[in-house]
Amino acid sequence: MMEEDMKEILYTKEEVAARIRAMGEQLTKDYAGELPMVVGVLRGSFIFMADLVRSIQTPLELDFVAASSYGSWAVSTGKVEMRLDLEKEIMGRHVLLVEDILDTGRTLSKLVEELKKRHPASLKLCVLLDKPERRVTEIEADYVGFTVPDEFVVGCGLDFNQKYRQLPYIGILKPSIYE
Ligand code: XMP
Ligand code: MG
Repeated sequence: MMEEDMKEILYTKEEVAARIRAMGEQLTKDYAGELPMVVGVLRGSFIFMADLVRSIQTPLELDFVAASSYGSWAVSTGKVEMRLDLEKEIMGRHVLLVEDILDTGRTLSKLVEELKKRHPASLKLCVLLDKPERRVTEIEADYVGFTVPDEFVVGCGLDFNQKYRQLPYIGILKPSIYE
């Protein structure tokens, strides 16, 4: 079982579900009457995004982008590119960018820079996890599910070599798995 590959379970399925519901309630208030464009960053955000939007009670639209970064998680080169673009224009729209984790910040900094050029009415960031210890760019999320320590975490969309994304909890992977 995949659970054997975990050093520790940081947040259980129930804790994750409750936190996302609370975030949805906050977003429902903050975006009431604004028809936000909720933009998920593929692939890591897809599970969080699905749970999050089902907790938002105000009308919204959805879209996705993808970013590619060169180098592995451990040895990131810092070069990030947008690989899949939005279908619609976002000029004048309230955009909520949704990502699994804010780590070094390189991915979201690049995406924010790209999207801001299109003059949205507002652009906010919503992440399930924040790992502030690893930040190398000046970026903070407007909505954070949980702040996590500097360890490799998986589950709820987060992967190691494309695996473990479907785990309903957030776990710390045993170093023996990736070393
Ligand atoms: P940056 O460093 O650009 O993070 O803020 C971008 C991407 O790196 C991946 N990432 C992780 N993936 N466990 C994962 O499964 C982690 O602990 C982790 N830290 C960073 C993730 O894909 C994120 O979108
Ligand atoms: Mg990702």
